[in-house]
Amino acid sequence: MTDEALIAAAREASHHSYSPYSNFAVGAALRFADGSVVTGTNIENASYGLALCAETVAVSKAMADGKRGGLEAVAVTGPGDEPITPCGRCRQVLNELAQLGGTDPVILCVGPGEIRRFKLSDLLPQAFGPASLS
Ligand code: THU
Repeated sequence: MTDEALIAAAREASHHSYSPYSNFAVGAALRFADGSVVTGTNIENASYGLALCAETVAVSKAMADGKRGGLEAVAVTGPGDEPITPCGRCRQVLNELAQLGGTDPVILCVGPGEIRRFKLSDLLPQAFGPASLS
C-alpha cells in the first residue's frame, strides 16, 4: 500500500471517532511488512481522562490480532490546519510494537497542506522498551 493509501485509511478511520468532548477526530493507520494495514481512531469517555488515542487503539487492535512486530509505517490524521504528532503515551505504545520486530517505523503526520515525516526513534529517542528488560 502506498503512503497516500495509508493516509486515506487513517482519514477513513477518523470518521468513526468517538470524540464528543474534544470534537477532535484523529485517525491512525499502521502498515506492516506483510502488507496488512490496521486502523484506529480516538475513543473518548465521559470521564475525560480515560480517552484513548487513535494510535493506541490501532496498536491494541493489531496486537489483539496477533501482530508482534513488522511495523513499517504509521499515518496520523487530525482535524486541524497543522499536522499532529503522536502524543507521548502513543509514542511509547508504538515503540513497544516496533521494537518487538526491530523496526523503526516512519510516522506520517498529515495536515491539509503538508505531510511531516519522522522516524519513531526521532520522536522517542533513547526509548525504554522490551529490550531494556533483558
Ligand atoms: N489524540 C489522539 O487520538 N492522538 C494523539 O496523538 C493526540 C491526541 C486525541 C485524544 C483526544 O481524544 C483528542 O485527540 C484531543 O486531545
